[in-house]
Amino acid sequence: MQDISIKGFGAYAPTNIVSNDDLSKIVETSDEWILGRTGIKERRISQGEDTSEIATKAAQMAIERAGICGEDIDLIIVATITPDMFTPSVSCLVQKDIGAKNAMAFDINAACSGFIYGLQVAYSMMDNSSNFKNVLVIGAETLSKIIDWTDRGTCVLFGDGSGAVVLSKTEEEKKKIANFYSKSDGSKGDALTAGAIDVINPYVKEIITKNKKVEMNGQEVFKFAVTSIVKGIKTVLEESNLSIDDIDMIVPHQANLRIIEFAAKKLKVDFNKFYINLDKYGNTSSATIPIALNEMYEKSLLKKGKKIIMVGFGGGLTFGAALIEL
Ligand code: UT7
Repeated sequence: MQDISIKGFGAYAPTNIVSNDDLSKIVETSDEWILGRTGIKERRISQGEDTSEIATKAAQMAIERAGICGEDIDLIIVATITPDMFTPSVSCLVQKDIGAKNAMAFDINAACSGFIYGLQVAYSMMDNSSNFKNVLVIGAETLSKIIDWTDRGTCVLFGDGSGAVVLSKTEEEKKKIANFYSKSDGSKGDALTAGAIDVINPYVKEIITKNKKVEMNGQEVFKFAVTSIVKGIKTVLEESNLSIDDIDMIVPHQANLRIIEFAAKKLKVDFNKFYINLDKYGNTSSATIPIALNEMYEKSLLKKGKKIIMVGFGGGLTFGAALIEL
């Protein structure tokens, strides 16, 4: 029976490590505050690499591990809120760099839920008799270019990086579980914003300038995050007729340790079921989940048959959960 499997994992983060102490030289903050409020110890910050370069490195690793080459890829989906340009898309830039000349390529913007949205779109497009056999899904960000480096409330939270997976159609004995639950709430969009280009043309009488840097109502997003994780996990479990005990690992969006602790308590789930690496990378938005997946793969935690839940939340506001049997 034809089904979809994750065949390759990859990740990349810039080599420049910025510690909490390093940040305390730029804004009025401390390791004690950042670690205590978020769990973050350090993050990677680009010294010039843009999102497509970061994305390409993760993609190359995932393709190599899947045992295929660029020409075998039929579809590239990049989730990002920090593209190099409005056009070409990051996915088209990656396509060129990896020689995926047979692929369709496009980006999606769902902020920190982007990787889950990308996976859901990929699974839908690969369903049944479609011609999409090998699909690359990437979460990649250079958040450092849209961060306000004078705002201690946000600049300490984010980092740069990317993660990628190759999904392939494979022959399986039985259909594997793959359930998604994603929703957006545009009415709460003001809680997390980063403006793009202003509307300036010969016909505009009053120019309204948008803030181009990340602005966030942290507490509003915090509440949304906890509710979304709980709702997302409960729903994908229900739709799969499974209980939390059937799940091997939960891979949450890595924004704040306290968010994950709150959600674990509300769900009455052992905290150790959550895979956490935000101490090393901070919040890399759409890249946190695939970077975590790559680490789990390298630690041999992602064996065939394991069931994992991935859950993300963020700007939009958006959230998404995926229950996947590997
Ligand atoms: O991917 C999704 C995106 N975002 C998130 O998931 C973020 C969700 N929200 C959060 O993680 C938390 O709300 C934050 C970590 C952003 C903030 O934590 P908080 O416990 O909600 O702190 P707060 O904003 O209420 O600020 C408490 C105090 C304030 O000082 P006063 O008014 O009490 O004197 C802030 O000015 O902490 C101050 N503060 C800082 N102090 C030292 C804010 N940032 C810093 C800082 N260093 N970096």
